[in-house]
Amino acid sequence: MQVLKNSKSVFALALILPIWFVSTSYAQTKTIKDGVYTEAQLAAGQNAYEANCNACHDIKFYRDIWKGWIDKPLLNFWYIIVAEMPADNPGFLLDTEYTNIVANILSEMGFPSGESVLDPNDGMDEINIVAP
Ligand code: HEC
Repeated sequence: MQVLKNSKSVFALALILPIWFVSTSYAQTKTIKDGVYTEAQLAAGQNAYEANCNACHDIKFYRDIWKGWIDKPLLNFWYIIVAEMPADNPGFLLDTEYTNIVANILSEMGFPSGESVLDPNDGMDEINIVAP
């Protein structure tokens, strides 16, 4: 390319490319602070949590285990709950119920609701868990 023979252009490209990479990868990664579940999911999740989880885990339990989840995708957290919980009956609930329960846990941990619907089939692998 003609333009690349000009050493000033090469220099400019070398400066611009890394900035472009950093900003696009940043744009793709959300965190649980970005309002990743709705109020409706939370309302349903509170009931489902009360009925299926509360007997064994109060909210303090999540504060204790949260450190081990930081920088992991929220989908992994959802998946381990689907696969292992309730401990006396794993996989018993519907996927949507597990998803609403995760919304409830996020809310209890102080992360806000928002416009986007939490959906394990849509982007939950790109939502990172962060510290409260
Ligand atoms: C009958 C008791 C019981 C019920 C009901 C139960 N759990 Fe658990 N849960 C456990 C035990 C036992 C463990 C493993 C020991 C531990 O980490 O304290 C555990 C572990 C977990 C973990 C940690 C997983 C990890 O590897 O970090 C999460 C998250 C969790 N439970 C969420 C839930 C949710 C959400 C529900 C409701 C759908 C639920 N549990 C229902 C007993 C229960």
